[in-house]
Amino acid sequence: MSDSDASLATALEETPGRAERYFAEAASELSLRAARAEFLGKKGHLTALLRGMAEVPADQRKAVGERVNVVREQVEHAFEARLKSLRLAERSAALSGRPEDLTLPARFGTPKGHRHPIASVRDEILDIFSSLGFEIAWGPQVELETNNFEKLAFPPDHPATDMQDSFWVRVEGAPENQRVLLRTHTSNVQVRQMSTRTPPMAVVSGGAVYRRDDDVTHSPMFHQIEGFRVDQRVSFAELKGVLIEFARRLYGSSTQVRFRPSYFPFVEPGAEVDVGCVFCTPTDGTRAACRVCKATGWLEILGCGMIHPQVFTECGIDAERYTGFAFGLGVERVAMLRYGIPDIRLLFENDPRFLAQF
Ligand code: FA5
Repeated sequence: MSDSDASLATALEETPGRAERYFAEAASELSLRAARAEFLGKKGHLTALLRGMAEVPADQRKAVGERVNVVREQVEHAFEARLKSLRLAERSAALSGRPEDLTLPARFGTPKGHRHPIASVRDEILDIFSSLGFEIAWGPQVELETNNFEKLAFPPDHPATDMQDSFWVRVEGAPENQRVLLRTHTSNVQVRQMSTRTPPMAVVSGGAVYRRDDDVTHSPMFHQIEGFRVDQRVSFAELKGVLIEFARRLYGSSTQVRFRPSYFPFVEPGAEVDVGCVFCTPTDGTRAACRVCKATGWLEILGCGMIHPQVFTECGIDAERYTGFAFGLGVERVAMLRYGIPDIRLLFENDPRFLAQF
């Protein structure tokens, strides 16, 4: 055996013991793993010893190779044993140490979220109508065609349904003669309430509705508030009074409001209500370029009118005895005017830089 063979054999002999002592000094799993790499890693002690194999005579290489493998296993074993004892020690320290107090306040404070602007505006609108004497009701977003269109005097396949291009839904077990859709407006709540109750009633409702629409002021999913009142001798003057009071409470007493004749199959007469555009003014030259109000100076926020006698009849209410008004408004439109948001899509992108501004 040459001198270098002898020193390789001694080095191999000493390696497991050295590793064990070295591993015993490691006080954490992280430093133990670093120590393991010093022995078994690419640039480790054992790899360096293996480089000496070149000088081992060919007839002894097999035996030395086998010896190296045994030493590798012994080092690995020493590592596993130390890892186990470190983990055990850590576990028993955790069990016997001071318990953590999960009720303590966070050291740096927790960032607070807040409600989405649509939810706040929806509730603010509901609150205003509630304080004017309307009770709050809810209705489903997946609705029968009859409650969304037919009972509201939209004849089947009437072109008027094009006004609210719909998402139709195939529902297992739905009545054969009834199509199902995502409601295109909250007027389904009006139908459901009037079909199950007797007047007088004043109800307001809010929620998501769906249409095949998509541009800076139209979204395929948006929110509406529906309100209606039925009693004897309800008049259009009362409807105007309620909606003007609503606009003033929401936007301030100087808000410009206009009623414009319009058509909805379920009201007669019908109107649309616009409020003055908040994005431009007629005098500073911004109006001509305003793409939100399309240079008109007005933004439509709702549709309204006196409930059509045919709707009363469809819902089982005596149309000779009762009159009523109804209105439906777009929550996004109201929020956009309120906060000066120029593109409806910003409300649904969930960008925290946008949402943090409310
Ligand atoms: C209706 O939906 C009627 N149901 C409202 C109504 C109720 C009229 C009761 C009379 C009596 P209209 O399609 O105009 O009407 O929608 C009402 C409001 O919803 C609009 O004024 C607008 O503010 C908003 N809106 C309509 N489509 C969209 C859309 N795609 N994205 C965002 N807002 C919309």
